[in-house]
Amino acid sequence: MSVQPTREDKFSFGLWTVGWTARDPFGDATRAPLDPIEAVHKLSELGAYGITFHDDDLVPFGSDAPARDGVIANFKKALDETGMVVPMVTTNLFTHPVFKDGGFTSNDRSVRRYALRKVLRNMDLAADLGAKTFVLWGGREGSEYDVAKDVQAALDRYAEGLNLLAQYSEDNGYGLRFAIEPKPNEPRGDILLPTAGHAIAFVNDLERPELFGINPEVGHEQMSNLNFAQGIAQALWHGKLFHIDLNGQHGPKFDQDLVFGHGDLLNAFALVDLLEHGGPGGGPGYDGPRHFDYKPSRTEDYTGVWESAKANMRMYLLLKERAQAFRADPAVQEALAESKVLELSKPTLNEGETYTDLLNDRSAFEDYDVDAAGEQGYHFVKLHQLAIDHVLRAN
Ligand code: GCO
Ligand code: MN
Ligand code: MN
Repeated sequence: MSVQPTREDKFSFGLWTVGWTARDPFGDATRAPLDPIEAVHKLSELGAYGITFHDDDLVPFGSDAPARDGVIANFKKALDETGMVVPMVTTNLFTHPVFKDGGFTSNDRSVRRYALRKVLRNMDLAADLGAKTFVLWGGREGSEYDVAKDVQAALDRYAEGLNLLAQYSEDNGYGLRFAIEPKPNEPRGDILLPTAGHAIAFVNDLERPELFGINPEVGHEQMSNLNFAQGIAQALWHGKLFHIDLNGQHGPKFDQDLVFGHGDLLNAFALVDLLEHGGPGGGPGYDGPRHFDYKPSRTEDYTGVWESAKANMRMYLLLKERAQAFRADPAVQEALAESKVLELSKPTLNEGETYTDLLNDRSAFEDYDVDAAGEQGYHFVKLHQLAIDHVLRAN
């Protein structure tokens, strides 16, 4: 299998990734600003199919209408020249000081109204560019001090804002689906909707839950010491995986935004196997964009930036090849059966069996040899080693 990316792989990048000038809280930028037009052409040459952006990544904050129209026209020209698409658009509600206490959930009502207007305008642009997914990462929605944020009121305001966006999209025929991006902290001490689970629960209580899903990021769940592949499996189970941010992370520390797979490689393998093949028992996979939200390390020059962009796609394709080999290996199929992995897909009750039937089934309890069942081995380690053998091409 080739590891040369093609448009069919549906790899997309945020403008803010390769365009990160590497300024961090402890040091100045190490790279010059990158023209978004150059980013579109370069990523297209590398094999990407799509580009995503925050409004302010493309049109500098505060641009007047003629300048904004000019930037958008040039961007559309670059999309036409390259055939790149815009699968997703998002809004910057975190850089300008006005958002220091958030956007949709700022304590200041005038800021909340401004944030809504900024997003509504950006939705017009998203629809104009043909985006189907609108991501909302509430990086500033949260607090450092419990007594300073009425969380229930904040969730009311969050819901109020999101319900309005859905109404606006439907009334205008935009057909957008909205994806909340969870993150536990950074930049706020505690961010609202911190994990995939919190976000799924929240969107299910909105007025149009069918228009809302999540955009989980590898590093964000792993910052909370959670298993990302497991979280994606649950998002798929709920039908709520609307988009995904792929990168790398070494467990609970600041958001490293490493190249995909450069953190927990084995969990990245499990993730790619899930996305490409669905659950081992036939649960759904994912057919959306393979979107990279990462930061080229501050140590890199632009040659290194493009090498890192290539590395993301290479990692995904190598792991996809390894997952295909794993699934195709008869020894793996045998080990999956020995570990009863596929038996989990068999309903616990027989077709039409009721709890009364179960209560009358002595083999399930009264005559059950619980000690024999307790003595059985599941051979998970052998199965796991087979997976690692395939990741390492050891077989
Ligand atoms: C972060 C987030 C952002 C979002 C982006 C799109 O930690 O800064 O991951 O990069 O993904 O704002 O929503
Ligand atoms: Mn992030
Ligand atoms: Mn992200």
